Amino acid sequence: VVTIPVELAGAGYDVLVGAGLLHDLPAILRERCPAAAYAVISDDVVGPSFGTALLATLRTEGLRAELLTFPHGEASKTRETWAALSDRMLGQQFGRDAAIVALGGGVVGDVAGFVAATYLRGIPYVQVPTTLLAMIDSSIGGKTGVDVPGGKNLLGAFHQPRAVVADVDTLRRLPAALLAGGIAEALKHGVIADAAYFDVVARWSWRDGAATSGAELEQLIAGSVTIKARVVSADEREAGMRAILNFGHTIGHAIEAATAFAVPHGDAVAMGMVAEAHLAEQLGIARRGTAARIQSAVESHGLPVRPATRLPADTVLAAMRRDKKVRGDALRFALPSQIGAMARAADGAWTIPVTETAVRNAL
Ligand SMILES: NC(=O)c1ccc[n+]([C@@H]2O[C@H](COP(=O)([O-])OP(=O)(O)OC[C@H]3O[C@@H](n4cnc5c(N)ncnc54)[C@H](O)[C@@H]3O)[C@@H](O)[C@H]2O)c1
Ligand SMILES: [Zn+2]
Repeated sequence: VVTIPVELAGAGYDVLVGAGLLHDLPAILRERCPAAAYAVISDDVVGPSFGTALLATLRTEGLRAELLTFPHGEASKTRETWAALSDRMLGQQFGRDAAIVALGGGVVGDVAGFVAATYLRGIPYVQVPTTLLAMIDSSIGGKTGVDVPGGKNLLGAFHQPRAVVADVDTLRRLPAALLAGGIAEALKHGVIADAAYFDVVARWSWRDGAATSGAELEQLIAGSVTIKARVVSADEREAGMRAILNFGHTIGHAIEAATAFAVPHGDAVAMGMVAEAHLAEQLGIARRGTAARIQSAVESHGLPVRPATRLPADTVLAAMRRDKKVRGDALRFALPSQIGAMARAADGAWTIPVTETAVRNAL
């Protein structure tokens, strides 16, 4: 088991990565998140696969626990799901001495975390991520929330978990298509902070089944977690440095929005990273060859480097201007200076203002 601390001004917490950790959860909860009762929140795929067994384990160990599930998928990341879960917990008389266990992918983590942030004005919770993306990205950092008709993740709260418990054995049943999104984020972590880690991820072959070799997977996940934890520790509330996690996401989000989310997030981020790396090179910010290295890593994992159908630059730019992270007139980007290091603006900011013309050229 690898233990990676997320150091925060308030209460920090550990991310535990290892095989078989679900079996140790009763002890982990007793130590790191003691509570009178646990609401295990999951979706209708992960709940039957891992939740039922987990519930039995918790009860055998003398802990009060109930399993609450909702239909899987992004379409469930709504206020309605948040309300239904909260109502069910109230109905089952969970009190302020209760805690939540968020068991599932990023959708479960975001919704269950938001329930925890608001239930009786906030109760503790533990993240138990079961997708690669959730293990290396969404479960760490305390961002919780739901989607609304006006956009994704527009309602939410910062609420840090007491612990993140990533059992790599749960990834054995994850369809390969779902690993791709995690790979895109892992490559991103390499670009923003660690060139050696970038090479490891770029060379990693998961399509031939190597993904399930426990030790390798544990190291890969720990590498990403270490990078994300370091960035979150430096900037808990996204006031500055955390912006570097948005590398590939300014254009990526615009591609998602412009295609009405037909393009999966990992694919959009892959294309976004390639385009933004070209942008950085064209502006003379990134060392030459940076974009080519990212592009070949993206391709080697079967991720797309450009949209399958023609997507006019104007459509992408319009979507970018609607994005909540674009403030004022200037488009700002988190851009690498080379693989493993991010550039800073003249005023020290981690995002760099870029003209529309430059973005158009890169697209
Ligand atoms: N809070 C954050 O900082 C943050 C960061 C990145 C992404 N996110 C959010 O994360 C979400 C995406 O997360 P995701 O990709 O994990 O999606 P997801 O939670 O929808 O999971 C994808 C699918 O995999 C299934 N699944 C989960 N674990 C499985 C397993 N072990 N075996 C088989 N199937 C399994 C789920 O039931 C679901 O159908 C998005 O809503 C995104 O906004 C949040
Ligand atoms: Zn992302």
